[in-house]
Amino acid sequence: MISRFAKSFIAIVVALLLLSTISFIHPSSRNYSYFDPTSGEFLANGNAAAERNHKQDQLQHDAHPPISGVQGGVIMEKLGNATAKAALGRATWKLLHTMTLRYPEKPTQDERDALNSYFHLLSRLYPCGECAHEFQQLLKQYPPQTSSRRAASLWLCSVHNRVNERLHKEEFDCAHLDEEYDCGCGDEPIGASAVPALDLDMMRGGR
Ligand SMILES: *[C@@H]1O[C@H](CO)[C@@H](O)[C@H](O)[C@H]1NC(C)=O
Ligand SMILES: *[C@@H]1O[C@H](CO)[C@@H](O)[C@H](O)[C@H]1NC(C)=O
Repeated sequence: MISRFAKSFIAIVVALLLLSTISFIHPSSRNYSYFDPTSGEFLANGNAAAERNHKQDQLQHDAHPPISGVQGGVIMEKLGNATAKAALGRATWKLLHTMTLRYPEKPTQDERDALNSYFHLLSRLYPCGECAHEFQQLLKQYPPQTSSRRAASLWLCSVHNRVNERLHKEEFDCAHLDEEYDCGCGDEPIGASAVPALDLDMMRGGR
C-alpha cells in the first residue's frame, strides 16, 4: 500500500514532467515582436530552407540588434525614362551577379550579415522607385540566401528570372551564370567551378 505522502510525491513528479515536456515542445515564451516585419514572411511560403534561414536570422538578431535604416520602405521616386531605367537595370544586374560570384565560398556570419543588409538597403535606395518596390516584394518572398557563394549566386539568378518572367523576357539559364557575368577573376579558379549543379527547386521557395 502506497502512503499518501508517496502518492502526492508521484503526482508532483508527473506534473513536473508534463510541464517540462510542454515547454520543450513549445518554447514560445520568447519575445519575437522584436524581429523585423519581414520575418513573418520567411515562414509564410512553407519553404524548409527559408525556415532554417529564419531560425538562423533569429539567433543572429539575438546577438546583433538590427542596424537602423536597413529595413524600411522605398526611398526614391518613380523613374519615368524607360531608356534610363533599362540601362540602370543592366548595370545593376551586372554589379549584383559579379558580387555574388565573387562572394566567399564559406562566408563568416559578419559577411553573411553584410550581404543580407546590402540587398535590403538596395531595395530601399535603388534609384528607380517602382523597381525598388518590386525588389522589396521579391525579398519578402525569397529571403536572400547568404550561406555560400553558390547559394547567393543561385538565389540572385532565381530572383533575376522572376523579374524576367514579369517582363516576358527569356528565362536565364543559371547554370551558365559565370559565362554571362565574368567575375573578372582571370585564371583564378573562382569562375568555372563557382556555380556547380543546379538545385532550382530550392531557389524557388518550394514552389
Ligand atoms: C517584446 O519586445 C518589444 C521590444 O523589445 C517590446 O516593446 C514589447 O513590449 C515586448 N513584448 C512582450 C510581450 O514582452
Ligand atoms: C532618357 O534617358 C536617356 C539615357 O539616360 C537620355 O539619353 C534621354 O535624353 C532621356 N530622355 C528624356 C526624355 O529625358
